[in-house]
Amino acid sequence: MLAASLFGSAEPASVAFDPAARTFRLDGGNATYVFGVNTRGELQQLYWGGRLGATDSFPKATPLPEWASFDSSYTTTPEEYAGWGAGLFVEPALKVTFADGNRDLVLHYVSHTTHAKGFDVELKDIKRPLFVTLHYDIDPESGILERSATIENRDTEPVTIEQAAAAAWALPPAHYTLNYLTGRWAGEWTLTQEPVYPGARVIESRRGTTGHQANPWFAIQAGDANEEGGEVWFGALGWSGSWRITVEQDQLDQVRVTGGFNPFDFGYVLHTGQALETPVFYGGYSASGLGGASRLLHRYELEHILPRTAATASQPLPKPRPVIYNSWEATEMNVTEAGQEALAEKAAALGIDRFVMDDGWFGQRKTDHAGLGDWYVNQEKFPNGLKPLIDKVHSLGMDFGLWVEPEMVNPDSDLYRKHPEWVLNFPGRPRSEARNQLVLNLARPDVRAYVLGFLDKLLADNDIAFLKWDYNRNWSEPGWDQLAAVEQKKVYVEFTRNLYAILSELRKRHPKVEIESCSGGGGRVDLGILHFTDEVWPSDNTDPFDRLVMQDGFSYAYTPQVMMAWVTDSPHWLNHRATSLPYRMLSSMQGSLGIGANIGKWSDEETATAKRLIAAYHDVQPTIVQGNLYRLISPRDGSEFSATQTVRPDKGQSVVFAFIHSTQKGRLFPTLKLRGLDPAAEYTLSSIEGKPRAGTPVKASGAWWMNHGLDMDADFRGDFQAAAFRLDRK
Ligand code: GLA
Repeated sequence: MLAASLFGSAEPASVAFDPAARTFRLDGGNATYVFGVNTRGELQQLYWGGRLGATDSFPKATPLPEWASFDSSYTTTPEEYAGWGAGLFVEPALKVTFADGNRDLVLHYVSHTTHAKGFDVELKDIKRPLFVTLHYDIDPESGILERSATIENRDTEPVTIEQAAAAAWALPPAHYTLNYLTGRWAGEWTLTQEPVYPGARVIESRRGTTGHQANPWFAIQAGDANEEGGEVWFGALGWSGSWRITVEQDQLDQVRVTGGFNPFDFGYVLHTGQALETPVFYGGYSASGLGGASRLLHRYELEHILPRTAATASQPLPKPRPVIYNSWEATEMNVTEAGQEALAEKAAALGIDRFVMDDGWFGQRKTDHAGLGDWYVNQEKFPNGLKPLIDKVHSLGMDFGLWVEPEMVNPDSDLYRKHPEWVLNFPGRPRSEARNQLVLNLARPDVRAYVLGFLDKLLADNDIAFLKWDYNRNWSEPGWDQLAAVEQKKVYVEFTRNLYAILSELRKRHPKVEIESCSGGGGRVDLGILHFTDEVWPSDNTDPFDRLVMQDGFSYAYTPQVMMAWVTDSPHWLNHRATSLPYRMLSSMQGSLGIGANIGKWSDEETATAKRLIAAYHDVQPTIVQGNLYRLISPRDGSEFSATQTVRPDKGQSVVFAFIHSTQKGRLFPTLKLRGLDPAAEYTLSSIEGKPRAGTPVKASGAWWMNHGLDMDADFRGDFQAAAFRLDRK
């Protein structure tokens, strides 16, 4: 359970329907959410923000007036889930075409059921038996809402869904700033901030998958909000296929955020009796700025999103990630039994928990031109299969992980030669390759069975603790020629559903196995995949300075628990930047630590440094990855300094990281006024790396560390310097 003082009011959650006013109210944490049936019968949004008094009530919802003949009341009234019809000009939640060509859809309230954490509210078109059930759940501790919709056709003719959101959120007129995450391969997680202007800002992926270019998360801050204060509304979509979030300021300056399946190239035919479930759109409210918003989201992800293994099934939190070694940057595809065993010996000596062999172990995989799809062990590289290597890794006290890329195929593979029809394609059109590979159409039942089958066998035949599940291109020519032309666009839904089904089935059959979501780095990170994967690979860019900025961006939406961060070689292959090993180690220690360097070449001194810091990391890892994160100084925009602090939820321990990009004019590192400690408790400061300023007390109260603050050593200057400290309550 969360401490009420940190995350919300001490009031219990409540879910209440007022039958006289026909309003629905959900309270949780510090938030209240209210909507009601308006006098026309639509579901109208009424309030989302700080928690209201228990006895406060809302009158019956009244639609907003029309602005002019150009903007009717239907378009000015913020609805929970608006059908496209009756002259709606803002973003609809649902747009359909009926079999007879009618495209008008107006949804009115029919009924609802109340359950412990929320409501299911049934809507229906004013004329036709097209039903929509809106699902609402509120988390009692964080106040985070889970919203989704089920669209059901009870007509005798089919209906085509052309656009289906999971939910729409509304905010009253005010000055707002929108925060969202953008990027590209090797450059993910840029926090982009801009005023909310009239018109629409569309954040999306049309790629069939989540994408590096934008992430399905947003935060909107009120005019005066900042990192640690003021009102912030945030949300994230749980979907790993094409998605869209539209942030719109309408003609009355109201703000609406609508998100769900990307309507671009979308079409889902619902036959009589069929239903379409949308993804979940999570939404929350913080009165403590962007920092408060991300702390709520982190805790929610840890407690309610991330999967459990057999070992943690009944635990409140997933276990901190093992410290891994991964051979990719050391060997690329040149993996051999002897080479991997030599690396494993070095890794074990460093105190590594898990040894992961990356790409190159299967089929005829010598380069990225061949082999994907052929998931048998390469006999030249591993004459006796994987067992000798796995046994060796186990004998060294580590568990074993393996790289796979199950949804892909190289045209130069036995699989493609046998089943060229299995890839996404339009017959007679070119099949565009990327990284010399094509995308298997996972929506097909035969492909789904193949992928589940080979992975199940791989895990049954070998003692594998972990899969790094990669996905190295986006879609092109997304045809599904087994189906009638009008049905083919279903691929956008069924592909992702089958991916989730395979992951879920594998976890059921192999409950000890853990999985990482990787897509050429951070191309598939979202709250959908995180139900089935224990961690993610945020970026192929492992440059420790770039990573500071990316980790900062990542942390707005996702918990450091899932943020894998490897220490690799210097100078870095991407930026050619040279950095010290302690700097690289501390950068990676902000998340879930791994080593990805060619450790076979490390000197004794480097080995000793890494070993010392891995041990220090192990000691405080739960505080770093599962604690409350405070971004004390942002590394963004070329900042000279940066710093983060995490505090264990019981406030018993805290870890501080400080980084210098490049000292200028001899400037000293700013005093770090710590946060989130117990002011009355006494904390002992100890160094993980670096020194505090001469005269800093070893022991002082939480009040002292928060009000006076922590100063770095006066010699803490230069380029790419790093320090880390821990504070332990007596
Ligand atoms: C992707 C991953 C890398 C590595 C390579 C292997 O790029 O993000 O970490 O696994 O594939 O081909």
